[in-house]
Amino acid sequence: MKKILDLITEEVTAAFMQAGYEEKFGKVTLSNRPDLCEYQCNGAMAAAKQYKKAPFMIADEVAALLTDNAMFSAVDSVKPGFLNLKINETCLASYLNQMQADDKLGVEKVAEPQTIMIDYGGPNVAKPLHVGHLRSAVIGEAVKRMGKFMGHEMIGDVHLGDWGLQMGLIIVELKERKPELVYFDAAYEGDYPEEAPFVIAELEEIYPTASAKSKEDEVYKEAAMQATYELQNGRKGYQALLKHILHVSVTDLKKNYEKLNVSFELWKGESDAQPYIPDMVDKMKAGGFAYESEGALVVDVKEDTDTKEIPPCIILKSDGASLYSTTDLATLVMRMEDYDPETIIYITDKRQELHFKQVFRCAKKTGIVKPETELKHIGFGTMNGKDGKPFKTRQGGVMRLEHLLDDIKEQMYAKICENETMDEEEARKTAQLVALSAIKYGDLSNQASKDYVFDVERFTSFEGNTGPYILYTIVRMKSILKKYAETGKSAEGKAILPATSESAKGLMLELAKFNGVMENAFSELAPHKICAYIYDLANAFNHFYHDTKILAEADADVQASYIRMLELTKDVLETSIDVLGFAAPERM
Ligand code: ARG
Repeated sequence: MKKILDLITEEVTAAFMQAGYEEKFGKVTLSNRPDLCEYQCNGAMAAAKQYKKAPFMIADEVAALLTDNAMFSAVDSVKPGFLNLKINETCLASYLNQMQADDKLGVEKVAEPQTIMIDYGGPNVAKPLHVGHLRSAVIGEAVKRMGKFMGHEMIGDVHLGDWGLQMGLIIVELKERKPELVYFDAAYEGDYPEEAPFVIAELEEIYPTASAKSKEDEVYKEAAMQATYELQNGRKGYQALLKHILHVSVTDLKKNYEKLNVSFELWKGESDAQPYIPDMVDKMKAGGFAYESEGALVVDVKEDTDTKEIPPCIILKSDGASLYSTTDLATLVMRMEDYDPETIIYITDKRQELHFKQVFRCAKKTGIVKPETELKHIGFGTMNGKDGKPFKTRQGGVMRLEHLLDDIKEQMYAKICENETMDEEEARKTAQLVALSAIKYGDLSNQASKDYVFDVERFTSFEGNTGPYILYTIVRMKSILKKYAETGKSAEGKAILPATSESAKGLMLELAKFNGVMENAFSELAPHKICAYIYDLANAFNHFYHDTKILAEADADVQASYIRMLELTKDVLETSIDVLGFAAPERM
């Protein structure tokens, strides 16, 4: 369906043209003075300069041509030259009826769907997910679903951190603890055991222990570096261990991401990109892009228009080792070969901005990606505690994501048990849904690039701009719909009627924005715009609800119209939160 703003713009543009002015002056926007009007056009102000006329004269002429237009209930020309518009109630109702009949609620699929890869999550093998991983997962999942909803093919890749010294550290520590394992016997020729020689809890303890030791013990560190080298150069026992580490770790990661309602199409890792490195490096050299500088192999990526110094992208260190940037470039080679995506989006902490700037420029310059391939980085801010410092446990340690989720679930469970007569199972399930809405909405409602304070009390409140408030509003609608159905009535096939109250119209105006919001939010990769919208919509609904006797309405058609409006609001809210990556319970 066309966006309502576009439909209105068409009418106003036609009037401008009819009055002898250029088409471009007819653009209509949402009103920034909702107390005065619903939509506005400032075109007469701009036209005044071009036509050397007083703006209000132009506005008057256009307004005169629009007064009888069926799309408007009010067209006012106000000095110095604004056009203030109100939409006709019948026209608005008809728009909503069309929206309701459409299976995507009026959102049109993009004309040219793209293959878009999205690199998010980015957990590191053998390290538990901690709160630092939350934002990438939550924002990435939302952006992926937004793109899917618009009709793109979205491919999410977790891009596992499974390469480098951490693997050597784990191997060395495991060797100290269980030297008798066959993996360490270089002469061993047989098959390796199917079962891993550790469980996830051990693995998670081994890594930090090894990492701490290596910082104090040079010999230990040397051994880890050696093990890493041997692993990367094909030592069989170590590769068998790597498989175990990956398997145990990925199984656990999947479980934890599932609790967050986050899933990935691809579970590729940094290690998958390594085979692409030698050839990539050769091509960079042959193309004259890579050169030696202080022993390292680098590619210049600075541009004339830079206002800040952009250092060269380092491809290989002086000892020939690859780096984070090398892996990201090789991953691009692999992605182009496997999927040839039109766009690749990366979601990481904004402190990685320079890294991605260098990688993107290098990839373009060296032809790893096509000139038209879009590479985008969404850099997010830090999740802080109430003290304004990065979120920590009460003891000051790094908070595991699992624990954060469980804590909030417990709090929500206690709250739900307070005022409802739910059985244990339903209360637990509900608590899980509400907790997830609190965490995700708390994060997503902020512009991604900004730091935010993770305020548990505020995020879990059923009032205010929170996830639970949105869920509460949906649950309220479900309950009204249920009560209506219990009276034996049905609104099926009934129409939404023109608004007769200010609160009904307010709600209808919000509903009509849905397709525009979804389109705009994805084009700006800005989930917070969906959050802002559903908060406004929920408020408009609650205002209408407090203002209107829905279940006591005597006129059956009017009542059915209310019910249809309520259903539409519920559908829009539920679709929106599904796109954001959470869901509502039946009651709470
Ligand atoms: N594993 C990385 C980290 O913990 C994040 C990976 C982000 N993705 C990428 N393609 N570099 O910082």
